[in-house]
Amino acid sequence: MFTKETTERLQQLETPFYYYDLDLLRETLAVASGEAANRGFKLHYAVKANFNPVIMKIIAGYGLGADCVSGNETKLAVECGFPAAETLFAGVGKSDREIETALQLGISCFNAESVEEIGVIDEIAGRLGKKAVVALRINPNVEAHTIKHITTGTDENKFGIRIAELERVTALLEEMENIKYRGIHFHIGSQITDLHVYRNLCLRINELWEWLTDRGLEPADINVGGGLGISYEDPDRFPPFADYFEVFSRHLDSRIQSTISFELGRSLTAGCGSLISKVLFVKPGARETFVILDAGMTDLLRPALYHASHRIENLTSELPPRKYTVVGPICETTDTFGKYIELPETRRGDLVAIRSAGAYGEVMAMRYNMRSLPASVFSGDKGLIIRQ
Ligand code: LLP
Repeated sequence: MFTKETTERLQQLETPFYYYDLDLLRETLAVASGEAANRGFKLHYAVKANFNPVIMKIIAGYGLGADCVSGNETKLAVECGFPAAETLFAGVGKSDREIETALQLGISCFNAESVEEIGVIDEIAGRLGKKAVVALRINPNVEAHTIKHITTGTDENKFGIRIAELERVTALLEEMENIKYRGIHFHIGSQITDLHVYRNLCLRINELWEWLTDRGLEPADINVGGGLGISYEDPDRFPPFADYFEVFSRHLDSRIQSTISFELGRSLTAGCGSLISKVLFVKPGARETFVILDAGMTDLLRPALYHASHRIENLTSELPPRKYTVVGPICETTDTFGKYIELPETRRGDLVAIRSAGAYGEVMAMRYNMRSLPASVFSGDKGLIIRQ
């Protein structure tokens, strides 16, 4: 990803910033959408992973739908070229204003997460003289075996309608005049690397499909969510799209005629993005040597928030390796990107890349300590393209 020429160009720019390799993004999209299409599956992009418009427009160009979690995301998705008719709105707390926005845009479907929400969507749709298409987001109570903070599909989580409530919800659907039932939706968590977990999800979906079909509510669409994990240790390893989709091909009941949709975020955009930073100081501590970067947890929050680890590369030193603790400039001890990690001997002014940062990186940046938000820079045919 970082040829000598690219590194030289990046060195000219003010740091920190996100750098996106758009060729890699295109390659990832071509493979993911190809593998999905080969199995007759439909692919959506989970906009929350990266809503940078340059990235969004490229993704829309590959014919994906958009999975949105706020009214603003639905608006942006349509502005960036995702058809409204392929745009979904899921989220555990949709405000009345957001529901109105989405109805006015004519999005394809609301993934409803509670009995109360279905009532509110019905009421707002009635007031606007519209019909709202609704899928039920069901909490399948399937353990995702991932970071505790990003598990969403067990009974303890706030997400989705619990299976125990389904009887009540299906009765309610019949009473709602302004709602058209479309199908069911699941999402069990993110950064899932044990594909076996998805087999368990398929088995639960098969049971629910049968239960609903028996009651005359055969889903036209089954959205199985996202969550495919990536290798943070080896950022150049391509996500296992074929293996992932194959689990669903194998384990979903062959009687199911519904459209099967996926909504991937991380596996589509993480690999193409890196946070680029310069070394401000190299400071000896009592037990470790600190490399102090000009990027901090305000630019990439994942390590501080989830103890997530991203591979760190010194792009400009070829000296023998040493062990360092890499930190940012923020006034928090959790502002640490890596402890006792090996880097070539590092000096003030060196350029560092924090890899696999194209998903849940730029979008989670914040202004704590009155920091500026990071800029974004893209690979392009005629050199780098910069967006402040
Ligand atoms: N669908 C729904 C309903 C979701 O909630 C999510 C992610 C996705 C799809 C996309 O999941 P993916 O394919 O990206 O795993 N900030 C955390 C991740 C939070 C994920 C939230 N939901 C992180 O940095 O790891």
